[in-house]
Amino acid sequence: MSIAEPILLTPGPLTTSARTRQAMMVDWGSWDDRFNQLTASLCEQLLAILNGAATHHCVPLQGSGTFAVEAAIGTLVPRDGKVLVLINGAYGKRLAKICEVLGRSFSTFETAEDEPTTAADVDRLLRADSTLTHVALIHCETSTGILNPLAEIAEVVEQHGKRLIIDAMSSFGALPVDAQKVPFDALIAASGKCLEGVPGMGFVFARKDSLAAAAGNSNSLAMDLFDQHAYMQKTGQWRFTPPTHVVAALHEALLQYNEEGGLPARHARYAANCQALMEEMGKLGLRSFLPAAIQAPIIATFHAPQDPRYQFKDFYERVKAKGYILYPGKLTQVETFRVGCIGHVSPDEMHQAVAAVGEVLREMEVLEI
Ligand SMILES: Cc1ncc(COP(=O)(O)O)c(C=O)c1O
Repeated sequence: MSIAEPILLTPGPLTTSARTRQAMMVDWGSWDDRFNQLTASLCEQLLAILNGAATHHCVPLQGSGTFAVEAAIGTLVPRDGKVLVLINGAYGKRLAKICEVLGRSFSTFETAEDEPTTAADVDRLLRADSTLTHVALIHCETSTGILNPLAEIAEVVEQHGKRLIIDAMSSFGALPVDAQKVPFDALIAASGKCLEGVPGMGFVFARKDSLAAAAGNSNSLAMDLFDQHAYMQKTGQWRFTPPTHVVAALHEALLQYNEEGGLPARHARYAANCQALMEEMGKLGLRSFLPAAIQAPIIATFHAPQDPRYQFKDFYERVKAKGYILYPGKLTQVETFRVGCIGHVSPDEMHQAVAAVGEVLREMEVLEI
């Protein structure tokens, strides 16, 4: 694999291929037919990944992932709607914050950071409050790497006749979701995650009838997905200046995604990365925060070594000097650090990265290995 230095073992921005970066060496006119075709092809390919063309529109949006999540909630939840927000980490908390800022009523249900929300929880909560209209869920909670049981939760939400909004930012493209089997109103992801594009745009798969009924819901001009979609349908163009180079890079990344073998191959590579990571870190005596059964092959959280000589910043800089970028922990109660399994990296690079971690911990005299 030809990869850039340093190797990013982070949940995005992440390591991209030289081909993907090369695709950004062209300047595109936003009115140009070729660019509009690129956008249309992108949306078509994205919809195909979740088998959504019959039921959902793909609405791309400029900005980071949070912009797309905020736009989805603001557009698809009516102003008199009420959202049940399921939380087991920082991104779930962000969903609640978005509802608060947008002035949408919401209630929250929070479990521990190592405890998935269950379909039974959701069933009970929906029974208890008939004013709820929507449920919002993080598929893979990137703050730890925990996987929530999306299919089971979606089924319960459907049985109650409620609408589901899924933040699949760090899982889309790697973990399977079939829009014809898993009912949802919106599933949100972004360019710079498991599709291995560069950051700069998000996209929302919005159920066609829900989007059609969403005119006037949004309190924002720029983040109104109804308008964004309507304009794109009419003109083939983005409503406001598009992130041209990001679109081109994602298009190129998708060619490679398909060449690799699509979702099953991407999933298999990330699973192999995660397994290599866990095995090698285990040999160093570094413990995973999550049990394997609820660990998604996206990002892994490790307990920091219990040694006063260990400081994350020092550790991080030393590992970086050896060519690998790690990620700080995001837990409040325990000291941890994170290592991403996604991006244009293979199990070989994971082995090398953990070898670098071992060398650094020895240099820091943290581990006697
Ligand atoms: C689950 C999840 N939701 C949302 C986001 C959006 O974050 P950002 O706006 O920084 O792209 C991320 C980013 O990693 C994420 O992992």
